[in-house]
Amino acid sequence: MCGIVGYIGKRDSQDILLEGLKKLEYRGYDSAGIAVFTKEGLQISKSKGRLAVLEDKLKGEPLAGSVGIGHTRWATHGKPSDLNSHPHTDNSAKFSVVHNGIVENYLDLKDELAAKGHVFVSETDTEVISHLVADEYDGNIVEAVQRAVARMRGAFALGVLTEFEPEKLVAVRFASPLVIGIGDGENFIGSDIPAILEHTRNVYILNDGEMAVLTCNAVELMTIEGATISKEIFHVDWDLVTAEKAGFDHFMLKEIYEQPKAYRDTMLGRVSDDGKSVDLKELSMSDEYIKSINRVHIVACGTAYHAGLVGKSVIESLARISVENDVASEYRYRSPIITPQTLVIVVSQSGETADTLAALREAQRNGARVLAITNVVGSSVAREADDVITTWAGPEIAVASTKAYSSQLIAFYLLGLHLARVLGTQEPAAMEELITGLNALPEQVEKILEQAVVLKQVAESISHHRSLFFIGRGVDYAVAQEGSLKLKEISYIHSEAYAAGELKHGTLALIEEGVPVIALVTQETLYEKTLSNIKEVKARGAHVLAVANSGFEGEVAKSVDEIFAIPKTLPILSPALAVIPLQLLSYYASLALGHDVDKPRNLAKSVTVE
Ligand code: M6R
Repeated sequence: MCGIVGYIGKRDSQDILLEGLKKLEYRGYDSAGIAVFTKEGLQISKSKGRLAVLEDKLKGEPLAGSVGIGHTRWATHGKPSDLNSHPHTDNSAKFSVVHNGIVENYLDLKDELAAKGHVFVSETDTEVISHLVADEYDGNIVEAVQRAVARMRGAFALGVLTEFEPEKLVAVRFASPLVIGIGDGENFIGSDIPAILEHTRNVYILNDGEMAVLTCNAVELMTIEGATISKEIFHVDWDLVTAEKAGFDHFMLKEIYEQPKAYRDTMLGRVSDDGKSVDLKELSMSDEYIKSINRVHIVACGTAYHAGLVGKSVIESLARISVENDVASEYRYRSPIITPQTLVIVVSQSGETADTLAALREAQRNGARVLAITNVVGSSVAREADDVITTWAGPEIAVASTKAYSSQLIAFYLLGLHLARVLGTQEPAAMEELITGLNALPEQVEKILEQAVVLKQVAESISHHRSLFFIGRGVDYAVAQEGSLKLKEISYIHSEAYAAGELKHGTLALIEEGVPVIALVTQETLYEKTLSNIKEVKARGAHVLAVANSGFEGEVAKSVDEIFAIPKTLPILSPALAVIPLQLLSYYASLALGHDVDKPRNLAKSVTVE
């Protein structure tokens, strides 16, 4: 996904911009560029490909100057190319713009500007913004940007420079994240905090419809209509080191190994001292409101959606409230039945996923209360939701989500227990048993991680296959779906997840000699049924690896080719363990195939467009 960084100060800006862009690489991109005020005026250097390509170009033709903007682009309008890369400019080359998001009415604006004589060289919506600002300019860049923005529809974060007012850097946020970094005699903009963290820990987080005018010594905040606003400075107390690999070969592996800590941190302070109940004190929803909830919608994308599938089982079994799951990109278009008695839970690691944010707004428009489960404090989802359960997984850099997913499961367990306590739907002994099980999970994950080498070998053999299947029943099916996504995402091996009992209704036709099938067998009440399904695929030649609860590993071992046992836990808690071997399998398969594990092709960490 696109990244923005900007600098205004006394230092040479080129390296600050490049370093800032490097910190945003994890978001995914296909081209990069910078614009700097040099002695010759506003100069732009940009190119398709990795930042290293741009760096090489700049070695030959550096851009010297102390004010600049930079961008990493993830193509939406127009293919990745030098011309489509940002920053963009207008025909006078006096204005320059970097932009994240999408301008929905850019074609109408483009036609109008073309009729006035503007000539466009790229396919992008962003180029239209630079022309529009130039067209609106009559001596005041702030007002020109305000007039331009008033004519744009869509989602955007902008950094704007003009040669006519080189002492100013203008930043705008409208439904796409942007922060302002406050320095000493210098100031910054960034689409994400890591872009500027090396230089300052004091930031303003812009809200939708807000803008900032930066000079070396001041930051003026206002609405896009021009009304002055004031904001509290947000002090970032986390470190860049936490976002580094800490000795692991890849961020993904590091993040897999961070899961015991992520579980502990997410539970910290939320379980009562006597270990008998869970109280999510951060929730502002009253007990009366909880008692009035008659249905829950869980809405999310990708891996977060899969966490929500487990969340459904957790809430239904613990709190006995009916739950529906929705993919966020579908939610508002299916005209869901939402009432004030519907609790809508949105799940998002980044808290910036456009579809999830849109679902949140749709739910609130219809009078529902929204509870967010997110990993990013201060994210859009966190700020707009009525209640937030933060997953304390720490920054997740690898595109493939691991510790964020499993921490989302912990959040659902805590929520289920909180609701059950208020609703009185579980016996005290059952609650205690669950909490004891929850507390044991971090250590159990550590035990699984000690066996990682076994999975490396299995992954290497899987990596030779073109297609494979994940099967399971109940919550095992939910975990199977996450395992399948993870494998596809980073190894590019085709896989499908199936409810084990559903195979014989069509998909069984695809099972032939040697096809790998990964079967999840953790549910006591379902394991005999799953075993029958395993026999169905075995009879057709499948090579079966079972991920099984150690309680019945002996029985399962008789029916499969390989088995990976996870420590015994309560059935509802097993996803928090069973997912770990699947993450490791995907990681090692990707590694065996020589792929870029942390930055898989075609994907971005944070999907801030619809
Ligand atoms: O930041 P979010 O949790 O809202 O992101 C949702 C999905 O884009 C994300 O989970 C995606 O599926 C991951 N890359 C999967 O590993």
